[in-house]
Amino acid sequence: MESKVVNSGDEHNIRLYSSSHQRFIHSAQSNHLFREWQSKGTTNHSPNDFILPLFIIPECDSQEEITSMPNVCRYGVNKAIEYLKPLVSEYSLKSVLLFPVMREKGFAKAINEQFNPVIKLIPKLKNNFPSLTVITDVCLCGFTEDGHCCVFNENGKMDNSESISLLSKLSVSYAKAGADMIAPSDMMDCRVDAIRKGLNENGFHEVSIMSYSAKFASCFYGPFRDAAGSAPKFGDRKCYQLPPGSAGLAMRAVKRDIEEGADVVMVKPGLPYLDLVQKISSTYPEAPVAVYHVSGEYAMLCHGATAGAFVLKTAVMEVVTSFKRAGASIVITYFTPLILKWLKDA
Ligand code: PBG
Ligand code: ZN
Repeated sequence: MESKVVNSGDEHNIRLYSSSHQRFIHSAQSNHLFREWQSKGTTNHSPNDFILPLFIIPECDSQEEITSMPNVCRYGVNKAIEYLKPLVSEYSLKSVLLFPVMREKGFAKAINEQFNPVIKLIPKLKNNFPSLTVITDVCLCGFTEDGHCCVFNENGKMDNSESISLLSKLSVSYAKAGADMIAPSDMMDCRVDAIRKGLNENGFHEVSIMSYSAKFASCFYGPFRDAAGSAPKFGDRKCYQLPPGSAGLAMRAVKRDIEEGADVVMVKPGLPYLDLVQKISSTYPEAPVAVYHVSGEYAMLCHGATAGAFVLKTAVMEVVTSFKRAGASIVITYFTPLILKWLKDA
């Protein structure tokens, strides 16, 4: 091979490249189908791949905008059904992830359908949309006065065993209401085990668990905490959510959660943690990996598109492709309604 070509004409270029035909790449991407083949399924999305997160409020006929999340609303039970109807019937929405917005705090209210609107919504969802898979987020931060994802003992220390016992009870009450899958986001130790035991002891062997396994202490949850009213009133979550630099703890958490019975493991947020999506999906081919494209990532793309930095659809689809390329098969995103429409119109 020639080592340098200065000011070359075509003739020199051809001589430079021709020593190895593998240096020619344009031929692999010269039409749309070729580009799809080279993408190895990472651009071939199905409605099955997307989960829509929803915030549910106790006022059945109300709907509220969320200022920090453009085009996302909190829905009362009846409004949620109305909102979902066209998404399910026309756009093939397959699954939702439910978050309750509580007006009154306390664990007793968390498991009471008069106060926790998610418990009220699940049977109605099942009635209206029998094919819709219903997933419930399970955490304590929506119910505790202080907004932490755990309870504290009398010494002010995190009470892990009491916390996971409450998480297990909450999971059972969602299963009783008809949830198909429980998604613990609290990051307490060994909660998957406690939840699996609670579900099994109550006859819910078939109820699945998707664990927020590699969930990092991230600034990108800001808009969500506003949406769900779950910001901690003191301190932060750094003693239970993972340190952003620690791939090691993420791998330990995923390993433990799979051993404890998680059916799906999750990485959260998405874009800043793609290395872990790849590492987890290649280390644990036995478990599907979900990515949570979180509220701050959502807001960032909306604002970027509004400011003219890029076209929203192109940016969103490029991000989704990056999740698939890294090895995720499930994407949890507030863009789900738009993505389903784009897929249908394609
Ligand atoms: C509750 C929970 C949070 C998110 C999902 N479940 C917030 C947090 O842990 O602080 C974040 C989702 C998002 O930002 O879109 N534990
Ligand atoms: Zn929480």
